[in-house]
Amino acid sequence: MKVSLTVIKADIGSIGGHIIPGERLKARVRDYIEDKGTKLIHDFRISSTGDDIAILFSHSRGEGDADIHKLAWDAFKAGTELAKEMGLYGAGQDLLKDAFSGNVKGMGPAVAEMEFEERPNEPFLFFAADKTDPGAYNLPLYLGFCDPMYNSGLILSPKMASGFRFNIMDVSYTEGDRVVSLNSPEEIYDIATLLRDNERFVVEKIYSKNSGEIAVSVSTTRLHNIAGRYTGKDDPVMLVRVQGDFPAAGEVLSPYAKGHYVAGFMRGSHNGPLMPVKQNSSISFFDGPPVVSCAAYCVHEGKLTEPADAFDHPFWDYVRNNVSRKAMDIRDQGFSGPAMLGYDELEYGGIVKNMKKIDKKFKVRK
Ligand code: 13P
Ligand code: 13P
Ligand code: MG
Ligand code: MG
Repeated sequence: MKVSLTVIKADIGSIGGHIIPGERLKARVRDYIEDKGTKLIHDFRISSTGDDIAILFSHSRGEGDADIHKLAWDAFKAGTELAKEMGLYGAGQDLLKDAFSGNVKGMGPAVAEMEFEERPNEPFLFFAADKTDPGAYNLPLYLGFCDPMYNSGLILSPKMASGFRFNIMDVSYTEGDRVVSLNSPEEIYDIATLLRDNERFVVEKIYSKNSGEIAVSVSTTRLHNIAGRYTGKDDPVMLVRVQGDFPAAGEVLSPYAKGHYVAGFMRGSHNGPLMPVKQNSSISFFDGPPVVSCAAYCVHEGKLTEPADAFDHPFWDYVRNNVSRKAMDIRDQGFSGPAMLGYDELEYGGIVKNMKKIDKKFKVRK
């Protein structure tokens, strides 16, 4: 059967700063969907990553379905009411528009979706990251889909020998979706040329060239393009099908052992290493380090298994310790140079205002 996976994620309020939404808030979102959504969907799961709540739906209505999007929007609205009642910090933070207009894209929440013919067994990974932006997935996707050092299946499995097609979006373009389609392995230098710039170019979709099937879908929202000012980082979600024509689960996961530096961290204005964490875990230290969680599932006739928490394994404790050290290394230099984002990316208006003020005091010496 044809199945659609949709994940919609929003920050609708959190406890003690941008830390964690808490069980009561998640229960409100879950109850809303159980109450109002059962006819529309096959199955769903609620989880949190840092201060963000994600709803993973399995259904048969395709991508961009107005009713599915409205269900998520209304569940987040219901959650926001409770967040306000409880006095949670940033209640309704990511719901940037007042009225729902057919699709949550461009309204604040992050969305990743894919539709496919279900295989007899259909394993997939659901990633959610907090205190960072969609470009955080660029390097792990490049390594997991283009590099035999991380994906041994590229040389061991004939099904992957022909490689993958990447759709890459220019997220600085605001007039519409500006996208380029590039093939791996033929064009990997071009793919790398774009993906090195995590703030401008973001992987949107990846397809298997062997079967033409969808492998990856990433949320590409940039909140400051919607709100015109800082409202929070664009904490991204991603779906990845694995095994068979696609990389094995471990080939997709292995690049996360790197803890590569990404944009985000405190006030969305710094660089920090991406730490793989368990689902439903919180944020600490310097509103970071940026974190990523991953739940592995199988979907069968639309029904989801229980999640297997991919980063809940002793191996990742070792990685987390290394990433903590990398976080300390970059925090050692405070606001200086690469520790803070470049002027164009600074999410807070304060520095921009300050610069305007100081600029007037400059004198040019001839
Ligand atoms: P496939 O079943 O996709 O061939 O996966 C082999 C495997 O388990 C690699 O780790
Ligand atoms: P969130 O985008 O996760 O809400 O974090 C915002 C922030 O400013 C953290 O310091
Ligand atoms: Mg927040
Ligand atoms: Mg967040």
